[in-house]
Amino acid sequence: MKKNVLVLAALALTACKNEEKEKAALYPEVKKSPKEVALALGKEVFDGKGMCYSCHKPNQKVIGPSVADIAKIYKEKGASITDFLTEKSGPIVDPTQYSVMKTNFAITKNLPEEELKALETYILSFAK
Ligand code: HEC
Repeated sequence: MKKNVLVLAALALTACKNEEKEKAALYPEVKKSPKEVALALGKEVFDGKGMCYSCHKPNQKVIGPSVADIAKIYKEKGASITDFLTEKSGPIVDPTQYSVMKTNFAITKNLPEEELKALETYILSFAK
Protein backbone atom coordinates (compact mmCIF):
# COMPACT_ATOMS: atom_id res chain seq x y z
CA MET A 1 0.00 0.00 0.00
CA LYS A 2 2.73 2.46 1.00
CA LYS A 3 4.55 1.62 -2.20
CA ASN A 4 1.51 2.56 -4.24
CA VAL A 5 1.29 5.96 -2.59
CA LEU A 6 4.95 6.60 -3.37
CA VAL A 7 4.49 5.60 -6.99
CA LEU A 8 1.49 7.91 -7.27
CA ALA A 9 3.43 10.80 -5.77
CA ALA A 10 6.25 10.23 -8.21
CA LEU A 11 3.82 10.14 -11.12
CA ALA A 12 2.19 13.37 -9.99
CA LEU A 13 5.60 15.07 -9.84
CA THR A 14 6.56 14.06 -13.37
CA ALA A 15 3.19 15.21 -14.64
CA CYS A 16 3.79 18.66 -13.17
CA LYS A 17 7.21 18.91 -14.76
CA ASN A 18 5.86 18.00 -18.17
CA GLU A 19 3.16 20.63 -17.84
CA GLU A 20 5.81 23.31 -17.25
CA LYS A 21 7.74 22.20 -20.31
CA GLU A 22 4.56 22.36 -22.39
CA LYS A 23 3.83 25.86 -21.13
CA ALA A 24 7.31 27.06 -22.12
CA ALA A 25 6.80 25.65 -25.61
CA LEU A 26 3.36 27.24 -25.95
CA TYR A 27 4.36 30.67 -24.67
CA PRO A 28 7.90 31.36 -25.90
CA GLU A 29 7.27 35.13 -25.65
CA VAL A 30 7.54 34.81 -21.88
CA LYS A 31 11.29 34.73 -22.43
CA LYS A 32 11.43 37.80 -24.76
CA SER A 33 12.81 41.08 -23.47
CA PRO A 34 10.53 44.17 -23.50
CA LYS A 35 12.48 45.48 -26.51
CA GLU A 36 11.91 42.25 -28.45
CA VAL A 37 8.21 42.34 -27.62
CA ALA A 38 7.98 45.97 -28.84
CA LEU A 39 9.87 45.16 -32.05
CA ALA A 40 7.55 42.26 -32.82
CA LEU A 41 4.43 44.31 -32.08
CA GLY A 42 5.76 47.25 -34.11
CA LYS A 43 6.39 45.03 -37.12
CA GLU A 44 2.95 43.48 -36.75
CA VAL A 45 1.23 46.90 -36.84
CA PHE A 46 3.53 48.24 -39.58
CA ASP A 47 2.86 45.27 -41.89
CA GLY A 48 -0.71 44.71 -40.72
CA LYS A 49 -3.46 47.08 -39.73
CA GLY A 50 -1.24 50.18 -40.04
CA MET A 51 -0.64 49.37 -43.72
CA CYS A 52 2.56 51.41 -43.48
CA TYR A 53 4.39 48.83 -45.57
CA SER A 54 2.45 49.78 -48.69
CA CYS A 55 4.29 53.13 -48.84
CA HIS A 56 7.44 52.53 -46.77
CA LYS A 57 10.02 49.89 -47.72
CA PRO A 58 13.03 49.11 -45.51
CA ASN A 59 15.80 50.58 -47.69
CA GLN A 60 14.19 52.05 -50.75
CA LYS A 61 12.06 55.15 -51.32
CA VAL A 62 8.74 54.27 -52.97
CA ILE A 63 5.70 56.45 -52.25
CA GLY A 64 7.12 57.39 -48.88
CA PRO A 65 10.72 57.66 -47.67
CA SER A 66 12.49 54.40 -46.73
CA VAL A 67 12.19 53.26 -43.13
CA ALA A 68 15.99 53.52 -42.84
CA ASP A 69 15.92 57.19 -43.95
CA ILE A 70 13.14 58.03 -41.50
CA ALA A 71 15.02 56.24 -38.68
CA LYS A 72 18.28 58.04 -39.47
CA ILE A 73 16.72 61.52 -39.45
CA TYR A 74 14.63 60.89 -36.32
CA LYS A 75 17.66 59.50 -34.48
CA GLU A 76 19.91 62.40 -35.55
CA LYS A 77 17.37 65.00 -34.46
CA GLY A 78 16.23 63.11 -31.36
CA ALA A 79 12.66 63.63 -32.57
CA SER A 80 9.59 61.60 -31.57
CA ILE A 81 7.81 59.43 -34.12
CA THR A 82 4.94 58.97 -31.68
CA ASP A 83 4.43 62.75 -31.65
CA PHE A 84 4.46 62.86 -35.45
CA LEU A 85 1.92 60.02 -35.74
CA THR A 86 -0.46 61.79 -33.35
CA GLU A 87 -0.01 65.17 -35.09
CA LYS A 88 1.75 66.72 -32.11
CA SER A 89 4.75 67.55 -34.30
CA GLY A 90 5.18 68.32 -37.99
CA PRO A 91 7.08 66.58 -40.80
CA ILE A 92 10.89 66.72 -40.81
CA VAL A 93 11.72 64.06 -43.42
CA ASP A 94 9.91 65.19 -46.58
CA PRO A 95 7.55 68.10 -45.84
CA THR A 96 6.68 68.50 -49.55
CA GLN A 97 4.87 65.12 -49.45
CA TYR A 98 3.23 65.66 -46.05
CA SER A 99 -0.31 65.70 -47.46
CA VAL A 100 0.13 62.07 -48.64
CA MET A 101 1.25 60.91 -45.19
CA LYS A 102 -1.47 62.92 -43.43
CA THR A 103 -4.19 60.56 -44.69
CA ASN A 104 -2.79 57.90 -42.31
CA PHE A 105 -3.38 59.89 -39.15
CA ALA A 106 -6.96 58.60 -39.16
CA ILE A 107 -5.42 55.20 -38.40
CA THR A 108 -2.45 56.18 -36.24
CA LYS A 109 -4.37 58.56 -33.97
CA ASN A 110 -6.62 55.69 -32.92
CA LEU A 111 -3.79 53.31 -32.08
CA PRO A 112 -3.19 52.58 -28.39
CA GLU A 113 -0.09 54.21 -26.89
CA GLU A 114 1.61 50.81 -26.66
CA GLU A 115 1.31 50.25 -30.41
CA LEU A 116 2.53 53.77 -31.25
CA LYS A 117 5.60 53.25 -29.05
CA ALA A 118 6.13 49.83 -30.67
CA LEU A 119 5.97 51.41 -34.15
CA GLU A 120 8.57 53.94 -33.05
CA THR A 121 10.87 51.21 -31.65
CA TYR A 122 10.45 49.20 -34.84
CA ILE A 123 11.16 52.12 -37.21
CA LEU A 124 14.18 53.33 -35.18
CA SER A 125 15.66 49.81 -35.28
CA PHE A 126 16.38 50.44 -38.99
CA ALA A 127 18.91 53.19 -38.24
CA LYS A 128 22.41 52.02 -39.06
C1 HEC B 1 -0.20 56.36 -48.72
C2 HEC B 1 1.21 56.16 -48.47
C3 HEC B 1 1.69 56.11 -47.03
C4 HEC B 1 1.31 55.23 -46.03
C5 HEC B 1 0.26 54.13 -46.11
C6 HEC B 1 2.10 55.58 -44.86
N1 HEC B 1 2.95 56.60 -45.14
FE1 HEC B 1 4.31 57.43 -43.88
N2 HEC B 1 4.84 58.78 -45.30
C7 HEC B 1 4.33 58.82 -46.60
C8 HEC B 1 4.94 59.93 -47.31
C9 HEC B 1 4.66 60.33 -48.74
C10 HEC B 1 5.84 60.54 -46.41
C11 HEC B 1 6.72 61.77 -46.66
C12 HEC B 1 6.05 63.01 -46.12
C13 HEC B 1 6.46 63.36 -44.73
O1 HEC B 1 7.67 63.36 -44.43
O2 HEC B 1 5.57 63.64 -43.92
C14 HEC B 1 5.75 59.78 -45.16
C15 HEC B 1 6.47 60.07 -44.01
C16 HEC B 1 6.46 59.32 -42.85
C17 HEC B 1 7.27 59.59 -41.68
C18 HEC B 1 8.27 60.73 -41.55
C19 HEC B 1 7.56 61.98 -41.06
C20 HEC B 1 8.37 63.23 -41.10
O3 HEC B 1 8.78 63.70 -40.03
O4 HEC B 1 8.55 63.80 -42.20
C21 HEC B 1 6.95 58.66 -40.75
C22 HEC B 1 7.52 58.52 -39.34
C23 HEC B 1 5.95 57.79 -41.34
N3 HEC B 1 5.67 58.22 -42.60
C24 HEC B 1 5.41 56.71 -40.69
C25 HEC B 1 4.35 55.96 -41.22
C26 HEC B 1 3.68 54.91 -40.48
C27 HEC B 1 4.03 54.46 -39.08
C28 HEC B 1 2.71 54.42 -41.30
C29 HEC B 1 1.67 53.37 -40.98
C30 HEC B 1 0.81 53.64 -39.84
C31 HEC B 1 2.79 55.16 -42.56
N4 HEC B 1 3.79 56.09 -42.46
C32 HEC B 1 1.98 54.93 -43.64
C33 HEC B 1 3.40 57.97 -47.13
C34 HEC B 1 2.73 56.97 -46.45
